[in-house]
Amino acid sequence: MVNVAVLGYGTVGSGVVEVMDINAREISSRLGDDVQVKYILDLRDFPGDPHEAQVVHDFEIIMADPEVRVICETMGGMEPAYTFTRRALEKGVSVCTSNKEVVAAHGPELIRIAEDNKCSYLFEASVGGGIPIIRPLNKALTAEHIESITGILNGTTNYVLTRMDEDGVKFEDALKEAQELGYAERNPEADVEGHDAARKIAILSSLMCGGNVRYEDIYKEGITAITPEDFKYAHAMGKSIKPLAMSRETKEGFFAMVAPFMMDSSHPLYMVKDVYNAVFVSGNTLGDTMYYGRGAGKLPTASAVVSDVVDCARHPDKTVACVWDETDVSLTGIEEYRCRFFVRVPESAGEAAREAFGTVEAVDAGISGEYAFITCVISNAEYEAAASKVDVITRIRVL
Ligand code: HSE
Repeated sequence: MVNVAVLGYGTVGSGVVEVMDINAREISSRLGDDVQVKYILDLRDFPGDPHEAQVVHDFEIIMADPEVRVICETMGGMEPAYTFTRRALEKGVSVCTSNKEVVAAHGPELIRIAEDNKCSYLFEASVGGGIPIIRPLNKALTAEHIESITGILNGTTNYVLTRMDEDGVKFEDALKEAQELGYAERNPEADVEGHDAARKIAILSSLMCGGNVRYEDIYKEGITAITPEDFKYAHAMGKSIKPLAMSRETKEGFFAMVAPFMMDSSHPLYMVKDVYNAVFVSGNTLGDTMYYGRGAGKLPTASAVVSDVVDCARHPDKTVACVWDETDVSLTGIEEYRCRFFVRVPESAGEAAREAFGTVEAVDAGISGEYAFITCVISNAEYEAAASKVDVITRIRVL
């Protein structure tokens, strides 16, 4: 019997217990052992819940029980999740988490503590919800030199932009829907301003290069400035606007960013809609691979946590390997990143814009009073220099 404690009985924590109940037979037969939820830690009581009897309010009860082999940390937020995780790992108890905040901030340190104590710190659910992406990077792609990762890593912003794109729903209404569906963070600013996706691409980038990519160093732009007019232009060009997170190894160094991009309908990520996420990974000998699934939500995220529980249980008194060094990776700046830009200016500034940006491709979406165009491939520094000479209404990078 593998005894598990679940920390936090909210959306993901209750999902973990549910997945273990629904799929108990599959889990037992694949593991060759039963998994049992022995404790659920939460401040609240849950009268009438089928797992009411397992609810405890004191973490020390879990720490004092030598039968607990794996902890699922589904509390969210930094504290007390980080302290509880450390305490468990220091005691040799494996921890499986969906908490990207803790993973992005303390991942390499917690992995080292797990190694020192012959247990594991696993975080499949921290990126892309239910999509297997951490395990592929750590296990299936170990023969590859990964050159780039491009992903839609935030379900809330993808849901919001899809609803704006396809149904003309207002930003605020679409965000409210995403919150009601349980996709958004407690503070949805983390979603719409790109912090959540930055944490996730920091985790993937760290696994890609083996060093520590700090999420604070990642350039990010949110989606709050995207308007229905931007979608009209995108439609006129056969494109959509997608919330992307990317990391690239370039000649100049390692670069990562989070921003909305205009994307052509021919790109594989174009079809990734609603709460779905996808991660597009390019390796030097493998070429392109893509991983797709539900990026947020109770059961998909919980399924990924439980898959980690099975992995831990399969490796008792051992560490499931993960190469993520504590040395910080220095990232190249946004100034050198090169792409085309979609730009809108007032009609009166059209000539000045053509002078400032040189050769551009005009875009007509039937919107009067303004001039819109796409630039050649230029660096962000070149864009800023040209844009400083005109009154730009909005600009969106083009993939
Ligand atoms: N708020 C996150 C999202 C939840 O929308 O993707 C999953 O990490």
